[in-house]
Amino acid sequence: MHLRKRVMVTGGAGFLGSFLCERLLEAGCDVFCVDNFYTGSKRNVLPLLDNPYFELHRHDITFPLYVEVDEIYNLACPASPIHYQVDPVQTTKTSVHGAINMLGLAKRLKARILQASTSEIYGDPSVHPQHESYWGNVNPIGPRACYDEGKRCAETLFFDYYRQHRLRIKVARIFNTYGPRMHPNDGRVVSNFILQALRGDPITIYGTGEQTRSFCYVDDLVEGLARFMEKTPDDFIGPVNLGNPREFTILELAEKVLELTGSSSRLVFKPLPMDDPKQRRPDISLAREALDWSPRVPLDEGLAQTIAYFEQLMREGCL
Ligand SMILES: NC(=O)c1ccc[n+]([C@@H]2O[C@H](COP(=O)([O-])OP(=O)(O)OC[C@H]3O[C@@H](n4cnc5c(N)ncnc54)[C@H](O)[C@@H]3O)[C@@H](O)[C@H]2O)c1
Repeated sequence: MHLRKRVMVTGGAGFLGSFLCERLLEAGCDVFCVDNFYTGSKRNVLPLLDNPYFELHRHDITFPLYVEVDEIYNLACPASPIHYQVDPVQTTKTSVHGAINMLGLAKRLKARILQASTSEIYGDPSVHPQHESYWGNVNPIGPRACYDEGKRCAETLFFDYYRQHRLRIKVARIFNTYGPRMHPNDGRVVSNFILQALRGDPITIYGTGEQTRSFCYVDDLVEGLARFMEKTPDDFIGPVNLGNPREFTILELAEKVLELTGSSSRLVFKPLPMDDPKQRRPDISLAREALDWSPRVPLDEGLAQTIAYFEQLMREGCL
């Protein structure tokens, strides 16, 4: 009946979702993109709107949705602290009610469903690097809990639907990812530094800048998600860490951004926000083995693409 696989991407007009939609179209899928445009935008999927195999649907996944698809990627959820803390109740609802609605849909359709989970489920980890077997160290009542605990509960729901209803699930734990189409005001370190450097504003470092982060370029991450969904058998459900294990200190990142933008911005130091993890690095041995996947794009190359995107936004007066 359907020559093309029908794939739904929730949060498809967001940063990661828009790249995933593109990749799925290139692979010959019929893509149904669902988004309430809370942090995503039509601009992210503008070049796709002319494609007859792409449909954009405004919908909030905290409400049920009745469509016919073969696969679901559940990415809908604000991902940066600035955005998810504006309306923390809605953030939890998006993760929890959203997961219930999407799992219910997958159950009715017998569709395969992938959850975009997060390294935040590890909280402020006491184990380095983080392996999937680590249960995490999350403050359940702090300002980040709406996101961290929401995502943890979504994982619980996915695994209970798997155990109780034999649903075909995949759970990916995504670590810090960056690239073009990141929201300019998301307060994340990469976009913050690039914008500050391009504007000649001081670069804000929280704490001493000795805390480390790993940064995965968006193309690598999307490749990992697609491989997990497409290339692994139904009994391989995860959770699987996807991210770049190469660690950089925040100071190193600031220096790279200054070098690549040619900016003369100075560094300023501010106190660390509450519950900010001091170190986070994925153990991706499972992804390497099961998906034959590891990140390929070096930080300099990814940063150059991201800087070019923000420069373009500036030229167009969008910033
Ligand atoms: N980017 C990262 O570094 C990262 C890291 C870990 C996990 N993730 C996860 O990946 C997913 C995508 O993240 P992103 O970086 O692209 O963020 P994003 O904010 O750009 O994308 C999220 C999208 O979901 C949409 N959305 C939010 N609430 C919704 C709702 N109730 N109904 C429908 N749409 C809704 C937003 O409008 C946006 O388009 C998220 O689930 C996030 O938690 C991202």
